[in-house]
Amino acid sequence: MIEVENLTKYYGNYHALKGVTFSVEKGEILGFLGPNGAGKTTTMRILTCFFPPSSGKAKVAGFDVFEEPLEVRKRIGYLPENVPLYKDMPVEDYLAFAAGIKGVASKKIKDAVAKVMHECILTDVSYKFIGELSKGYRQRVGLAQALVNDPEVLILDEPTIGLDPKQIIEIRKLIRNLAGRRTIILSTHILPEVSMTCHRVVIINNGRVVAVDTPQNLTSSVEGANRFLVKIEGPTQQVIKGLEAIQGVEKVVRKESPANGDGEYIIESTKGKDIKREIAPCVVSKGWALLELKPQEMSLEDIFVKLVTKE
Ligand SMILES: Nc1ncnc2c1ncn2[C@@H]1O[C@H](COP(=O)(O)OP(=O)(O)OP(=O)(O)O)[C@@H](O)[C@H]1O
Ligand SMILES: [Mg+2]
Repeated sequence: MIEVENLTKYYGNYHALKGVTFSVEKGEILGFLGPNGAGKTTTMRILTCFFPPSSGKAKVAGFDVFEEPLEVRKRIGYLPENVPLYKDMPVEDYLAFAAGIKGVASKKIKDAVAKVMHECILTDVSYKFIGELSKGYRQRVGLAQALVNDPEVLILDEPTIGLDPKQIIEIRKLIRNLAGRRTIILSTHILPEVSMTCHRVVIINNGRVVAVDTPQNLTSSVEGANRFLVKIEGPTQQVIKGLEAIQGVEKVVRKESPANGDGEYIIESTKGKDIKREIAPCVVSKGWALLELKPQEMSLEDIFVKLVTKE
């Protein structure tokens, strides 16, 4: 549905995008993750035909953003970083106005507006002036205007920024409900947001794509090693030695556990080696007690920091 190939963008001399390539399947929610200044908004602006790339290609639903921008715009709903809303218009009138601009037939505008107000839970504030709404409600109005022409593709630039935790949950739920028929790209620097909402993640840093994968694969396929957390009652040094002696174990580190005296250890094993089954017999044979054993996946934070600092 969306194909981005080797995009570059210069702002004057500043090289903001350095060859960004990725694609999004129909019905997929793609998370666009990266620190401030990574190039997320820049990529989104190219996809929404706001400005052309310096080089490279981008296609939406088969149409080139540069050669056929009108066709692309018809199919896209865009929630920009800062939504330009008309503060002295009531919600309903504004959405009707937005629908008109986006080419919704005048006969259909009323229904289209009612539908997005319902989807974005705005019906109760339909007569309120946008200027009177709280930040979260304005964000919903922004989302509603992106949806009002029922676009196939949604580009959402940090849809949950500035919202309170309850509203964040609501907006995420809304976004998940929108997927399937629509294809969605959303940008964020909130890592848990990605694992909660997206099917796949593109991590971008410094104008380059540094990883593309599912949130699950990103968290489990890290740098060769599998990790377990074990809690063992036994003499620390001997426990470490004992665990290190298990075949396939690469590293054993005692976790700082100031709260109590139980020894918590992180065991790292060679990728592909299943050491879980060896741990219990080893502990028991030495007469120690195994209190806990669980896999330790790396969090998206860990991976993000790893990828971004490697750059
Ligand atoms: N109009 C502009 N003129 C000059 N430089 C720009 C312009 N817009 C963006 N930049 C620069 O390009 C780089 C990428 O910016 P972009 O807005 O795409 O980042 P981002 O990933 O969206 O960041 P954030 O998370 O802060 O929104 C930044 O270094 C930014 O300063
Ligand atoms: Mg941005």
